[in-house]
Amino acid sequence: MTADNPLEKYFRDNDGRLIHKWMHYFDVYHRHFERFRGQPIVLVEFGVSQGGSLQMWRDYFGDQATIYGVDIDERCASLDGPGTHVLIGDQEDRDFLRSVGERTGPIDVLIEDGGHTMGQQLATFEEMYPLVKEDGVFLIEDLHTSYWEEYGGGFRRPGTFMRRAKRLTDQLNAWHSQDDRFVVDDFTRTTRSMHFYDSIVVFEKGRVVEPHHEKTGTASFDT
Ligand SMILES: C[S@@+](CC[C@H](N)C(=O)[O-])C[C@H]1O[C@@H](n2cnc3c(N)ncnc32)[C@H](O)[C@@H]1O
Repeated sequence: MTADNPLEKYFRDNDGRLIHKWMHYFDVYHRHFERFRGQPIVLVEFGVSQGGSLQMWRDYFGDQATIYGVDIDERCASLDGPGTHVLIGDQEDRDFLRSVGERTGPIDVLIEDGGHTMGQQLATFEEMYPLVKEDGVFLIEDLHTSYWEEYGGGFRRPGTFMRRAKRLTDQLNAWHSQDDRFVVDDFTRTTRSMHFYDSIVVFEKGRVVEPHHEKTGTASFDT
């Protein structure tokens, strides 16, 4: 256990609603989420299950956070309460996703831990990523399903989330393209970095302007 990780400590001490997590996720969460603690953020988590993670996020981010959980299971609606809202629907249904966005408005932190099929992950990323604020974070987990047939995955199979994520690493570098088929787009302009971990990709947003380089100093082998 990482002694100073408050999320892992909460998880270990948890005697509230059930949480089920891969243990290496806590380090990733804390690394990318710490700067939002105590702030009046909007957090959206796809995948509520028994509600334990919503309680964990409340404890970690504090009372000023507005938290939305999204799940297809109507039983999750009973977890709706002050400052924590539960929206019921299918994350593969793009009309539903648009209604989620209308309800939440711009998002600071989005955690995608829903049903984990390729269709669900890609629809949620495509519809919700533009709603994540400049400086916000989109974290998608359990991406091992990109390699599992029962979820639509397979090694280097087209149409998986990991395949899409790997293509997006090119898009980060589109400023340097020499090919008309490969151009700067909204993703290039709004994504500061992508971070790959086992089963997780984190997208850190930011306003990105065309990179430039400079030289300083005067001594060189050519003068
Ligand atoms: C892995 S669990 C979420 C775990 C929870 N975040 C936690 O850490 O305790 C996945 C959840 O996704 C929900 N889910 C499955 N398919 C879905 C879909 N198509 N749309 C929305 N939610 C879905 C399931 O009902 C389940 O509650």
